[in-house]
Amino acid sequence: MMEQFRYESGQLLCEGMAVDALAAEYGTPLYIYSKAALLGRFESIRKAFAEAAPVIAFSVKSCSNIGILKILQEAGSGFDIVSGGELARVLRAGGDPRKVVFAGVAKSDDEIRDALDNDILMLNVESEAELDNIQNIAAEMGTVAPVALRLNPDVDARTNAKTTTGKKENKFGIDLMTASRIIKNIALSPNIRLLGVDIHLGSPVNSTGPYTEALNKLADFIRDHRSPRSQLEYLDIGGGFGLLYRDETVPSFQEYADAVLPFVKKTGCKLILEPGRSIAGNSAILVSQVRYLKDNGTKHFTIIDAGMNDLIRPAMYDSYHFIWPTKSNRTPPSHLFGAADAPEYIAREAADAAAGGGREMQPDGLILTDVVGPICESSDAFAKGRRLPLVNRGQNLAIFSAGAYGFAMSSQYNSRPRPAEVLVDGDTVKVLRRRETVEDLMLGEEL
Ligand code: LLP
Repeated sequence: MMEQFRYESGQLLCEGMAVDALAAEYGTPLYIYSKAALLGRFESIRKAFAEAAPVIAFSVKSCSNIGILKILQEAGSGFDIVSGGELARVLRAGGDPRKVVFAGVAKSDDEIRDALDNDILMLNVESEAELDNIQNIAAEMGTVAPVALRLNPDVDARTNAKTTTGKKENKFGIDLMTASRIIKNIALSPNIRLLGVDIHLGSPVNSTGPYTEALNKLADFIRDHRSPRSQLEYLDIGGGFGLLYRDETVPSFQEYADAVLPFVKKTGCKLILEPGRSIAGNSAILVSQVRYLKDNGTKHFTIIDAGMNDLIRPAMYDSYHFIWPTKSNRTPPSHLFGAADAPEYIAREAADAAAGGGREMQPDGLILTDVVGPICESSDAFAKGRRLPLVNRGQNLAIFSAGAYGFAMSSQYNSRPRPAEVLVDGDTVKVLRRRETVEDLMLGEEL
């Protein structure tokens, strides 16, 4: 449940600020982050795992604004990166390279050099070929590269096929047999220091079972492969902690910790976590203005000024984001607000979908509508057959749970300048990224 986004006297607030006032001042579409929400989530992870005092390496790909990274860095966060660009962002934000882990199946030579130059904690290696390349680069540089092997435990994270990563058919990680051989031959790579093992199962992993299953395999693997040349002191369990978008049963951080910590004890490893979504996801909303309403006799459309270029998750993964007007006297019927009528609202949505949608005003005073954006393709929809209170042109809608993989996955498709990002801290607001201009669109291009 969210505390920092709430309705008071019929208007949506982010901490102490009225969302409509922010929209009026900074324009729409607009990403609004709550600092308290971000820090609150970070602290709850830290608390749940306190016994292991882990390195919490915030996954930069989920939300990469340097203003956000700075807040987390100041709270003691490390960072999980997947590119040289992300390393640059972390350094710009004042992040500590000694708490940076670098994953990714296709690191370039420059990215590897850059990581070694900056003395990051470790590179999470995804193949034998990559390990050989790191060995060569480290030798050339006259240094020793700290690495962990990213293992592919062949465990089903039971999540979206596009975001599952720990199965054998996925491109990620090294299978256990190959990893075993690599470790036995590690003496042949004098410029590699093998620090540990790493996994990432998928995202989101809305149950603890896959972690337990994978860590069972890993604990045995670690026990069998420890030697003076491979002390395997770090265990990095990746990211993937779940998030409430709609009605998912998401384990609490404490429940994830209860599943993971026994393995940390058993292996004696230092723990690294790479959470992204679970920290950033419900720390921001995307606010968008209703431009037009349209009724074609079969369907009702609410056409808003945000598009799939601003938030691609619904178009790309069929993801559910709760949407509600920023002005409403009714408690939004969502689990995000702990509303008692949330189950009924969701059940009716499912029934509507099964009945093929519609457009009539519903008995509950809501209208069945498709919330769509300005982009010229039909995939540009945030919700199909959604029940919303009747709104007018010019009113704002809030799209919730937009903090992770929201702005970070945005693009300028259809030559649309990207939204501004602002941060609310109590009753103050800070622009973390100004709205792009049309000039920005053509930056670097030539006639
Ligand atoms: N570590 C590694 C190696 C990862 O690949 C990821 C996410 C994370 C950590 C962070 O996972 P999280 O805690 O955020 O679940 N764009 C998709 C999600 C892609 C996730 C990719 N890897 C979405 O919008 O759902």
